Amino acid sequence: MDHFMERNVPFNGSLGLFDHFFFLALHAAGYAISYCSLWEKPRKEASMADNTKQEESGLSRRDFMRSAAVGAAGAVALAGMMQKEALAAEPAKPAAPAAAAPAAKPAALKIDDVMKAAREKLYPRCRVCPECDGVACAGEVPGMGGIGSGKSFKNNFAALQKIELNMRTFHNIKKVDTSVTLFGEKLALPVMSAATGGVTYNMGLKGKMTDAEYIDALLGGCRLAGTLGWAADGIGDPLETFQIRLKAVKKYEGKAIVTIKPKTQEEIIKRVRLIEEVGAVAFAVDIDSAGRAARALPGQTVEPKTLKQLREIAKSTKLPFIVKGVMTVDEAKMAIDAGASGIVVSNHGGRVLDYTPGVADVLPKIAAKMKGKTVILADGTMKYGTDVLKMLALGADAVLAGRHLLRGAVGDGKEGVALLLNKMKSELTDSMVLTGTASARKVSKSIIA
Ligand SMILES: Cc1cc2nc3c(=O)[nH]c(=O)nc-3n(C[C@H](O)[C@H](O)[C@H](O)COP(=O)(O)O)c2cc1C
Repeated sequence: MDHFMERNVPFNGSLGLFDHFFFLALHAAGYAISYCSLWEKPRKEASMADNTKQEESGLSRRDFMRSAAVGAAGAVALAGMMQKEALAAEPAKPAAPAAAAPAAKPAALKIDDVMKAAREKLYPRCRVCPECDGVACAGEVPGMGGIGSGKSFKNNFAALQKIELNMRTFHNIKKVDTSVTLFGEKLALPVMSAATGGVTYNMGLKGKMTDAEYIDALLGGCRLAGTLGWAADGIGDPLETFQIRLKAVKKYEGKAIVTIKPKTQEEIIKRVRLIEEVGAVAFAVDIDSAGRAARALPGQTVEPKTLKQLREIAKSTKLPFIVKGVMTVDEAKMAIDAGASGIVVSNHGGRVLDYTPGVADVLPKIAAKMKGKTVILADGTMKYGTDVLKMLALGADAVLAGRHLLRGAVGDGKEGVALLLNKMKSELTDSMVLTGTASARKVSKSIIA
């Protein structure tokens, strides 16, 4: 009955036609919302079968939710129109102030559009699930999933889910600083795009997006959001593809980090020279891609590296050298001994070795020994600002987001990437206030519950 009071209309005990409609509309909206949220509950292990069913029926969960919401909104609007008519009979009231300019499209809706566009292009390589948990795409490598059973990818998601935050609001931290400085570069937020390559063989974008367009979207989006993007290096990618990516790095004035596969020493050093020429901030070797050493094809040699070989790479240049794919304390120490300026605690998104622990499980052990001695980066299912804050509290200096930003790039180019990064930044800002964290440079372990 609250709406009678709000309208300042005395309730006379009987409902008019308008009121019947209004109640009906509210019921419809409430029903749609509760039904949607029930359906949206984590579906985890069931998600693959679930997704397939929707795809067969041609009506996705998202589409249903949208129709339900539109239906409910329509009913509310109809009731609103009837209310307007009823009020027209009342004595005239002073004119309302001039209507404000139409409000900008809410960020959540825009992101929904980007994800929808991404799904249209990426399906079936990526189903753009409500949560990217490695379930639906288990075993899809090449593709977007995790290798084998998909356990390593799923572990990344599960390890992060386990972490909860202590909410603290008895303090005077109202403004927070999300910026960090890495390798001499100030980033507006401690998130960079991870290296993701294989526009055709992983993402299935042949004829829809080229390598050049993809890397431009990733690096350009990161620049728009005030951070750095990473450029990939696929095992089978010819040098020309690598050079396409370097061209984009140059276009964005070197504001990027370039990865090199653990190829032969000679091949790596050849690429380091090219990276120096485009003025990149740093380079990385994703040493965890060494798994194919045993079955490498001619010209596609990848190999594990000895300490001596890592030293040789570090000494070959003045550029900061980052070792990507460190999952143990001893190898983190060795990377630093070899002269690396940074490490990425990563299992390559669960794409190289099945049954590794989740990154959030190993990160605190590595950070306990290495914090302050090297730049510690981490990745694995980064999507929300709270994901970032958790990783910082576990000891990372910044994080990399792979599949999430990939979808932004495919869905809406550089604007899509920037939109997702800005949303992460705004969520990070809120969660920093609510945990009493003033600066992303110094996040206390004590915020973890
Ligand atoms: C399609 C795809 C391609 C990737 N290509 C590369 C690559 O070329 N080099 C690299 O170091 N990592 C590569 N990765 C791994 C990512 O850099 C990152 O470590 C991983 O995806 C974890 O982040 P995420 O869970 O946010 O996706 C790739 C990942 C995906 C999904």
